[in-house]
Amino acid sequence: MPGRPSASRRTVLRGAALTPVAGLALSACSGGGAGGGGPATPTAPVELGAESEIAKGGAKLYRDRNVVVSRADNGSLKAFSSICTHAGCAIDKLEGTTLTCPCHGSEFDATTGKVLHAPATVPLNELSVEARDGKIIAGPGA
Ligand code: FES
Repeated sequence: MPGRPSASRRTVLRGAALTPVAGLALSACSGGGAGGGGPATPTAPVELGAESEIAKGGAKLYRDRNVVVSRADNGSLKAFSSICTHAGCAIDKLEGTTLTCPCHGSEFDATTGKVLHAPATVPLNELSVEARDGKIIAGPGA
């Protein structure tokens, strides 16, 4: 007679022990951005620098522009806004192709824009990018 051995084994979730962190205000993000309203990505195409600065399989973070550009192994370029999708901080750290947000530690893949580590859940905003006369030009997508 088939029984239900697991029926008596109830899992008690004790997630309610999480306490809200009241002191975590967004003020931590108010340090950047000179133009008021916090850091922002370019609203028009901008020249970022020499195309040769980005090796295949690598990435470069242009902090003053809030843009990260990466190059795939086949040589194609990708650009993303480096404004964190969690609460809008300017990401200031790039190690290899991993971006880390200084505010709450979200991590993103600079080659895809995807979230690698919470609390962010939304990928980075992709920008259009091209190399023109050896320079990288990136801007908001159409
Ligand atoms: Fe919260 Fe980036 S703003 S992790």
